[in-house]
Amino acid sequence: MASEHDALRLAIDAARVPRHVAVIMDGNGRWAERHGEHRMMGHANGVNAVRETLTGAGEVGVKYLTLYAFSTENWNRPQAEVEALMDLLVRTLTSELDSLNENRVRLNAIGDLDKLPPDCLRLLREAMASTAGNDRITLTLALSYSARWELMRMARRMAEDVQHGLLSAADVDESAVAARLATAGLPDPELLIRTSGERRISNFLLWQIAYAELWFTDTLWPDFTRADLYRAILDYQQRERRFGLVSEQVKA
Ligand code: IPE
Ligand code: IPE
Ligand code: MG
Repeated sequence: MASEHDALRLAIDAARVPRHVAVIMDGNGRWAERHGEHRMMGHANGVNAVRETLTGAGEVGVKYLTLYAFSTENWNRPQAEVEALMDLLVRTLTSELDSLNENRVRLNAIGDLDKLPPDCLRLLREAMASTAGNDRITLTLALSYSARWELMRMARRMAEDVQHGLLSAADVDESAVAARLATAGLPDPELLIRTSGERRISNFLLWQIAYAELWFTDTLWPDFTRADLYRAILDYQQRERRFGLVSEQVKA
């Protein structure tokens, strides 16, 4: 018998699968609370949802999956939770590396990575180097990331380039901005998913989502499955992306 996600997958138009899907993985704490567990159990179970989403994305031909795993603002959470999250990242990078390579996943990371604990940063760099040749899907983890940090750094880089005579003010265009963002080289996401019922962006990819389709679900991140991903993609495929044009122009 075909599972629910098989049926959903078959309904997806393979020619119009978003190339890049970005996800704000939210609701781990509330999931734990509902199960009478410590918040960390929510984060630990969130790793299953990451695996599930990555597999599902690969199965339908999504080429880039970007996951908001830890924000600049998340550093201000209680120290014990921050430390446990960094620990979880270390354990997950270690346990998942073989599977990433088996599934031809290229691991990438964006954010103020130098703020990560040294062992964490070392493992992350090793995992990125080890998976650099993989070509099925690029998994980008946003870690110690915020869009304002990224835009602030872009402005600084631009000022430095002008100062060093590498760029003139007249050359500042969209591509000059994009080239100085952490996402340089990645296409913009066509679809942005947020779980847990919150309807906000929380400082994620502000430049890159200018024309992304937004999809919200009440499902808490640890309960998110590939079926949910497929529902988001199917909804995306129903929408008319007009990019400021009128409908007749888009259809022509
Ligand atoms: C998302 O889950 C994971 C991170 C932000 C690290 P939360 O920990 O924000 O879960 P809630 O929002 O408290 O339920
Ligand atoms: C957004 O979730 C950041 C991540 C998913 C890593 P938060 O739980 O930190 O966002 P707010 O506080 O609800 O806006
Ligand atoms: Mg949250």
